[in-house]
Amino acid sequence: MSHPSTYNPGSGFEKWLDRRLPIVRMGSDFMDFPTPKNLNYWWTFGGILTVCLVIQIITGVVLAMHYTPHVDMAFASVEHIMRDVNYGWLMRYVHTNGASMFFIAVYIHMFRGLYYGSYKEPREVVWILGVVIFLLMMATAFMGYVLPWGQMSYWGATVITNLFSAIPLIGDDIRTLLWGGFSVDNPTLNRFYSLHYLLPFAIFGVVAIHIWGFHTSGNNNPSGVEVKDIKKDTVPFHPYYTVKDGFAIVVFFILFAAFVFFNPNGLGHPDNYIEANPLSTPASIVPEWYFLPFYAILRAITFDIGPISSKLGGVIAMFSSILVLFVLPWLDTSKVRSMRFRPVARMWFIIFVVACLALGWLGGKPAEGIYVMWAQIFTAYYFGFFLIILPLLGLMETPKQLPRSIAESVLKSPNTAAPDHVAPAPAE
Ligand code: HEM
Repeated sequence: MSHPSTYNPGSGFEKWLDRRLPIVRMGSDFMDFPTPKNLNYWWTFGGILTVCLVIQIITGVVLAMHYTPHVDMAFASVEHIMRDVNYGWLMRYVHTNGASMFFIAVYIHMFRGLYYGSYKEPREVVWILGVVIFLLMMATAFMGYVLPWGQMSYWGATVITNLFSAIPLIGDDIRTLLWGGFSVDNPTLNRFYSLHYLLPFAIFGVVAIHIWGFHTSGNNNPSGVEVKDIKKDTVPFHPYYTVKDGFAIVVFFILFAAFVFFNPNGLGHPDNYIEANPLSTPASIVPEWYFLPFYAILRAITFDIGPISSKLGGVIAMFSSILVLFVLPWLDTSKVRSMRFRPVARMWFIIFVVACLALGWLGGKPAEGIYVMWAQIFTAYYFGFFLIILPLLGLMETPKQLPRSIAESVLKSPNTAAPDHVAPAPAE
């Protein structure tokens, strides 16, 4: 949503710079950006995610100063960071727990998008860029977890890289390429380290385009109704949302600090404090919590489907569970964005959230008996929600009456006097 610039270069230098590089104008326009006046706290997670990304990059760069990417030294170099480097323990705990916080925030951000239909026209590209970011985040986190070279690092890397060998014809070559040899070994650790350092900057770049995207389409909002009157429906981003986002960031970081200072290993696996040993397979190999729903989907396919082996079927199901998000804007046929006005869709959505949480729980359980059966049921629901429920519901349901405008959704009547977002000058 482009809006007229209100920037007025004051000093001679500002005028000089503005003609050559209007960077101050850009910042000022960013702060003035007309933002729907009804955004709730679910809209603060984009800002929280941006701060998470910056923290991961800063702590990661410091850790890299002391980490050694070699199979004989990686594990000891992490212990050296924890014990000898000034505040090394803090950098490491912030970085490892920061990854978990990043995923908590991104899952909330994505479910927010699903509930309020933020992926719908004209925000399809913003959503697709989000899915790209999500994929990059998963690749980055997976490779980061290998770096301390503990038992879970090693065996997790072995299980996941072996999956690629299920791909017909080229699978073995892909696996060899990932390994840089014929098993998970020093070249694997080196390439994972290199990519783990590189990808966050790629994420940074895609985030910039993601933000550019919704600055072009304008933000969605809880009513799902587009801005009609900039003056009545929006407020400038600053100070309204800088303050709201700032407050949410502080609250979020209290939770973050609680993990870092009171339970820094609570989200990790104790086996990763045992150095990697290719000759001893741990009793159970479990990924980090944020991968568990996808791990459950992978293991839910226990049967061959025609020529497709169960292993390949699992890999296809796991990747499809993310790839389906790319086409979501075209699967959901409803014209109404927000599920506030789609009571039936809202019910199916709540079951979808439960299914995702259940898959997460099942991913941490052994792949046997009743656990597999439930994982199969919830996997079927996961795909059914996107491929059957959303396409059909949009055609069949009767949504509730939409408010005529954002202002009307906030106030009883659009004509009720609302405090203008630009405070009138005090009378002399
Ligand atoms: C590093 C990760 C990410 C960052 C830093 C980020 C940042 C942001 C920011 C600052 C906003 C505006 C504020 C807000 O709506 O909360 C936003 C909006 C949005 N994001 Fe993200 N995002 C990330 C990942 C994702 C992912 C993974 C998805 C979906 C798969 C996604 C989908 C969206 C959508 C659809 C919007 C528009 C929402 C609206 O206006 O209602 N984002 N993002």
